[in-house]
Amino acid sequence: MIRLRELRAGDEQALQQIYSPESVRYLARNPMSEDEAKTYVSRAVLNSGQSPRTHFTVGLEAAGGLVGVAKLGIVQGAGTLSYILRPNAWGQGYATEAAGRVLALAFDVLRLPIGRAKHHPDNPASGLVLAKAGFTHIGAEGGFERYEVRSFRP
Ligand SMILES: CC(C)(COP(=O)(O)OP(=O)(O)OC[C@H]1O[C@@H](n2cnc3c(N)ncnc32)[C@H](O)[C@@H]1OP(=O)(O)O)[C@@H](O)C(=O)NCCC(=O)NCCS
Repeated sequence: MIRLRELRAGDEQALQQIYSPESVRYLARNPMSEDEAKTYVSRAVLNSGQSPRTHFTVGLEAAGGLVGVAKLGIVQGAGTLSYILRPNAWGQGYATEAAGRVLALAFDVLRLPIGRAKHHPDNPASGLVLAKAGFTHIGAEGGFERYEVRSFRP
């Protein structure tokens, strides 16, 4: 069971463990430096105070502390979902749970009509997470597998 919460000062070290070399292997980015972690938290705090809010970068907290981050961005009326967990928290259902919780935010609270996500073709675990959360694979583009899910609630 995970708890979703806003990021805050003091999360920087945990974020560096989350964005570790192993975790970013299939992402178009480098592991997180100390400086980047500071900027990341500042931006997340800034975004959380914006109205209307278009970027949700939320911490995933389990018994072992902050184990991951899920993001929901609103781009042209669609919700784009992504997530990342520190390696020692993989395989415990946390990403699947987080995806469901973020989709509930997108559909039930923000009333977005559609969710989108993507993953690297060599990262099948992420495709399984998306399928379990209700996403449909819609094809490959730009070197990534693309997925969509529509709000089924009127
Ligand atoms: C991809 C990632 C988010 C999966 O998170 P997770 O919490 O381990 O996923 P879950 O425990 O919810 O597992 C979802 C499914 O993937 C499977 N899975 C997990 N790790 C796997 C792996 N390394 N290889 C194959 N399948 C795997 C699980 O068995 C589960 O399937 P099942 O229900 O049929 O058993 C996590 O590995 C991660 O953060 N990776 C690095 C960052 C990343 O790739 N983010 C996604 C970018 S698109």
